[in-house]
Amino acid sequence: MEEESSSRSLLLEDFGQKVDLTRRIREVLLNYPEGTTVLKELIQNADDAGATKVCLCLDRRSHATTSLLSPKLAQWQGPALLAYNNGVFTEDDFASISRIGGSGKQSQAWKTGRFGVGFNSVYHLTDLPSFVSDKYVVLFDPQGDYLPNVSTLNPGKRIEYVSSSAISRYRDQLSPYCAFGCNMESSFPGTIFRFPLRNEEQASRSKLSKQAYMADDVSSMFVQLYEEGVFTLLFLKSVLCIEMYVWDTGMPEPRKTYSCSISLADSDTVWHRQTLLRLSKSINSSEYKMDGFLLDFLSEDISGDQSQKRVDTFYIMQTMASGSSRIGSFAASMSKDYDIHLLPWAAVAACISDNSSRVMVISSKMAGHFVSSPCQ
Ligand SMILES: Nc1ncnc2c1ncn2[C@@H]1O[C@H](COP(=O)(O)OP(=O)(O)OP(=O)(O)O)[C@@H](O)[C@H]1O
Ligand SMILES: [Mg+2]
Repeated sequence: MEEESSSRSLLLEDFGQKVDLTRRIREVLLNYPEGTTVLKELIQNADDAGATKVCLCLDRRSHATTSLLSPKLAQWQGPALLAYNNGVFTEDDFASISRIGGSGKQSQAWKTGRFGVGFNSVYHLTDLPSFVSDKYVVLFDPQGDYLPNVSTLNPGKRIEYVSSSAISRYRDQLSPYCAFGCNMESSFPGTIFRFPLRNEEQASRSKLSKQAYMADDVSSMFVQLYEEGVFTLLFLKSVLCIEMYVWDTGMPEPRKTYSCSISLADSDTVWHRQTLLRLSKSINSSEYKMDGFLLDFLSEDISGDQSQKRVDTFYIMQTMASGSSRIGSFAASMSKDYDIHLLPWAAVAACISDNSSRVMVISSKMAGHFVSSPCQ
């Protein structure tokens, strides 16, 4: 009898198919360019979550390393990119971000997210992304190297920090998230991501990326995002304002360097920007529906001695892409000829405030990441 059970256990060898997470992340990084793409994926996720404000902050400070979850985490207390938005994670969002692939948004045609991978472009910057939303802090460690009691099979942790008063035991671990109104004591009505930058030494050991990032690289990304600023905001549905900050060592709070916003956003603007949401819910989908509206964008550069402001006016047209609309059939031919994966909606915008360069922009989702391509 005993022999039979032991021979049975011998026959039952663990042999399931497994995905190598670090390899999967390396593949994602090949498909997502570095640079502002990462920031734009974060902005789009915030937009899909219904956020109206996004703040990006280059945190140049080095944080204390005494009360951490594990001593191995000390090396991730250095400079980081913080990304705040005023949307909150639902239980479905927590589940969705812990999977790669298979976005939970596919049944919601108006959302930009499609593939369930965009967030993972943050692995360009870090090996240890983390975030706080509602009453939780989540840390991902795909290599199973840094967090306590993790393995490559279970490569992350979620902590309910409110009722456990985690801040009193792990102050140094949790204080870097104390920004943009988050105090790590009460539940936070927004989301703050923290991406500690991968240094040279970590890059040489990383199985995710061999690319190191310096604080100045993030600074340059902010300049570039500011230059593309208006184009980033053009086709969003909820986000009205994107701000960029730098938090210098020794300073009590971050300093604003750039901002891009929709000027004079009123209920009309909100109504037009949510056209796609309405169209995707309309009963008779074969009906030809299109919406056009004017938007003023305000950009402000506060990084120099004096702040510089400019306003650009765009005319925006959007439609759910169906063959019955001109823009829809254009979208269909683009996707056939250029292998562009188009969203079920399409949009064009023209800058009408600047006569010298009438910029046309079209939006689509190419090989996973969202693009707004200016054309003259
Ligand atoms: N700011 C946020 N607020 C709420 N949920 C978020 C936020 N950022 C990410 N998420 C959750 O994380 C999930 C994963 O994001 P990810 O960008 O990888 O996929 P996606 O947006 O669904 O698809 P795509 O790859 O096309 O962008 C999202 O589907 C969402 O549920
Ligand atoms: Mg996304």
